[in-house]
Amino acid sequence: MTKPIKKEQTLIMGIESSCDETAVSIVAGDKEILSNIVLTQLEEHKPYGGVVPEIAARSHIDHLNRLIREAMREADVGFEDLSAIAVTAGPGLIGGVMVGLMTAKAIAFARELPLISVNHLEGHALSIRLTEEVVFPYLLLLVSGGHCQILIVKGVGSYQRLGTTIDDAAGEAFDKTAKILGLEYPGGPAIEKAAKKGNPKRFKFPRPLKGKPGSNFSFSGLKTAVLRAKDNLCAEKNGILQKQDIYDLAASFQAALTDSIVDRLGHAMDNYLEYFPTGDHILVVAGGVAANCAIKERLKSLCDHRRFKLKAPPMHLCTDNGAMIAWAGVEKFRRNEFSELNAGAVARWPLDPDAPAAIGAGIKA
Ligand code: KG4
Ligand code: ZN
Repeated sequence: MTKPIKKEQTLIMGIESSCDETAVSIVAGDKEILSNIVLTQLEEHKPYGGVVPEIAARSHIDHLNRLIREAMREADVGFEDLSAIAVTAGPGLIGGVMVGLMTAKAIAFARELPLISVNHLEGHALSIRLTEEVVFPYLLLLVSGGHCQILIVKGVGSYQRLGTTIDDAAGEAFDKTAKILGLEYPGGPAIEKAAKKGNPKRFKFPRPLKGKPGSNFSFSGLKTAVLRAKDNLCAEKNGILQKQDIYDLAASFQAALTDSIVDRLGHAMDNYLEYFPTGDHILVVAGGVAANCAIKERLKSLCDHRRFKLKAPPMHLCTDNGAMIAWAGVEKFRRNEFSELNAGAVARWPLDPDAPAAIGAGIKA
């Protein structure tokens, strides 16, 4: 039985289509998730070992209308019950972003509903406030397939970037390394599973940027080190690797990447405490890589040591979803932040436009 909707309640539909998930959700202002439907395109991209933008955009077109209907049916709401339509307008794969944005605009126009353009990264950044009573400011580690950043979240629309990747994102490093090791896509869960059976000390991989000042990340050298170690091992063993070799490579890679993240975060915490020395100190971790239990354990001990509280949205809200977009919509709705119907889709949309450019960071910054 669904609960009757209080007509005066804010009710936002969130649409997400910036990467390889088509997602629609209806969220109420009192933090109730009335529906949250996520269709992953994993199987469509699997043969290519990564997301193919053209396939992603076409798949969003094929499924979005049906998912909107399903989300409304599950939430038991009609268009007349909605307060606004929130939609990811970037950053992301532009074809997919346009599918979601055009659909949202069509609904907003036809049903005379306000449109709220949401920055996908802001969706991740604010999602913790949908499930917990977390107040601003907090430190955020955003680690996904497309992004790897540390930010101070000062408020809705107010971010200070402390670090970003200068090459690959953490999830991208997992995916590319998994491909090198012959593990399946997506690489994160596959590497985590393999690493459980491996020896993290067998291979001495570099800890990228460890000990260097600042909070930027770099993972492409680590990936190359894994490739070299695997090639050397193959040469030694006449091209035949044992399963244990792969497990050990995976465990050693994961340990090196985690060490690097912990080191970079340590610097960011120093920085954060300079700005906000008093009050509760909170580290929020979001994005698909936050699903990794080994990484989360290390973050927990770092936080205990530095007297930060670690918070992470539940797993299904860490990876891409419509509820986080709807919730960002609720936050913006309360601030009367609406978009015009000519709002554009943007491939690059930094949360902190004033942050100095990180050399080589490109679209991921
Ligand atoms: O946030 P997300 O669902 O999509 C975006 O990239 O925005 O994140 C997907 C990424 C992929 O690179 C995937 O390999 C990684 O998150 N990932 C993981 C784990 N589960 C997903 N990485 C490490 N360990 C995991 N358990
Ligand atoms: Zn994401």
